[in-house]
Amino acid sequence: MAAAAQSRVVRALPMSRSAITAVATSVCHGPPHRQLHHALIPHGKGGRSSFSGVVATVFGATGFLGRYIVNHLGRMGSQVVIPYRCDKYDIMHLRPMGDLGQLLFMEWDSRDKDSIRRAVQHSNVVINLIGRDWETKHFDFADVYAKIPQAIAQVSKEAGVGKFIHVSHLNADMKSSSKYLRNKAVGETVVREAFPEAIIIKPSDIFGREDRFLNHFSNMRRFGPIPLVSLGWKTVKQPVYVSDVSKGIMNAIKDPHASGKTFAFVGPNRYLLFDLVKYIYAVTHRLFLPYPIPRFAYRWIARIFEISPFEPWTTRDKVERIHITDMKFPNLPGLEDLGIQPTPLELKAIEVLRLHRTYRWLTAEIEDAKPAKTVNF
Ligand SMILES: NC(=O)c1ccc[n+]([C@@H]2O[C@H](COP(=O)([O-])OP(=O)(O)OC[C@H]3O[C@@H](n4cnc5c(N)ncnc54)[C@H](OP(=O)(O)O)[C@@H]3O)[C@@H](O)[C@H]2O)c1
Repeated sequence: MAAAAQSRVVRALPMSRSAITAVATSVCHGPPHRQLHHALIPHGKGGRSSFSGVVATVFGATGFLGRYIVNHLGRMGSQVVIPYRCDKYDIMHLRPMGDLGQLLFMEWDSRDKDSIRRAVQHSNVVINLIGRDWETKHFDFADVYAKIPQAIAQVSKEAGVGKFIHVSHLNADMKSSSKYLRNKAVGETVVREAFPEAIIIKPSDIFGREDRFLNHFSNMRRFGPIPLVSLGWKTVKQPVYVSDVSKGIMNAIKDPHASGKTFAFVGPNRYLLFDLVKYIYAVTHRLFLPYPIPRFAYRWIARIFEISPFEPWTTRDKVERIHITDMKFPNLPGLEDLGIQPTPLELKAIEVLRLHRTYRWLTAEIEDAKPAKTVNF
């Protein structure tokens, strides 16, 4: 696949190979054995049909955040290598996101370092978005959030990749009650060790059309009244809009001073979980019937969902994560430092929640729903 990609690139060269190599060497500081190609040299007017000079490998491109990242990369004229393990029909939505020949798909195996090497060998940017909300028979949280990122970071370093972007989580913490978040914290450490200049992004819960946040709370109505530990009065959330996260990552790629930094990506407002879920139900024009549930009982119910051989609707770990208050990192740079003004939830929630409305309320104005109360702690 890599050889095919390379030959396609060489065939498309408008200049002689030696001229290209000379220019490309001046913009790429990778090891000398690295093959250089014309996609690394910025040219054109900007936009989809030009060359931004970015050749990015996006691991986890088939996920929620991945489609926004690939879209933004394609839109600015980048070449994107997309390693995938799923059925080829599951990557079809990504195909129109770049100009002809600019998106290169390749099968990979996260346990095979050679396949990682093939995916990153021609790229100057690598973005790791690998994630899973629940553990499977083959991959536990340690695999997904520590071992795979470590392998990708090590191989990227060896291959001379210029920028490595690792997406972690705002609440990643070695002492967290969530195994997912403990492994996210380990992942940050091992990535930093393997690739000291890595850019680590710590987003809070991300909302957007395909999210597992607003959609999750809205779907809860199918099971009757809404269970919330302590009725959601003890949890504070600061969700961030998916497009902002994606644009922030694009700006981090372009910013020469971003290397080696950790960024916390959060939305502009903090809400009590109770108020947030109440707002979700107000926008969807559904009856909001919350009830307090003891944590052990919620976990017990989640254990039953975990038996599912398919995607579990919830898990004990997800119950923990939902009820963890979003941390504050006043000393870490954020979206504003990358030139992005975070979008308030009230402006974009309707994109996600309209499909949860009944026909009667489909076109109702969003102003009908009173904005959720914000808090400062
Ligand atoms: N969504 C949020 O609210 C949120 C908040 C904070 C941080 N994050 C982090 O941001 C990153 C991206 O999130 P997301 O919501 O886009 O995740 P997602 O929708 O679950 O997508 C995860 C991606 O990782 C791939 N993947 C998972 N396990 C893999 C494995 N063992 N081998 C190869 N590929 C594997 C999936 O491939 P398949 O399609 O083949 O399964 C998919 O492309 C994750 O690290 C997540 O933890 C997300």
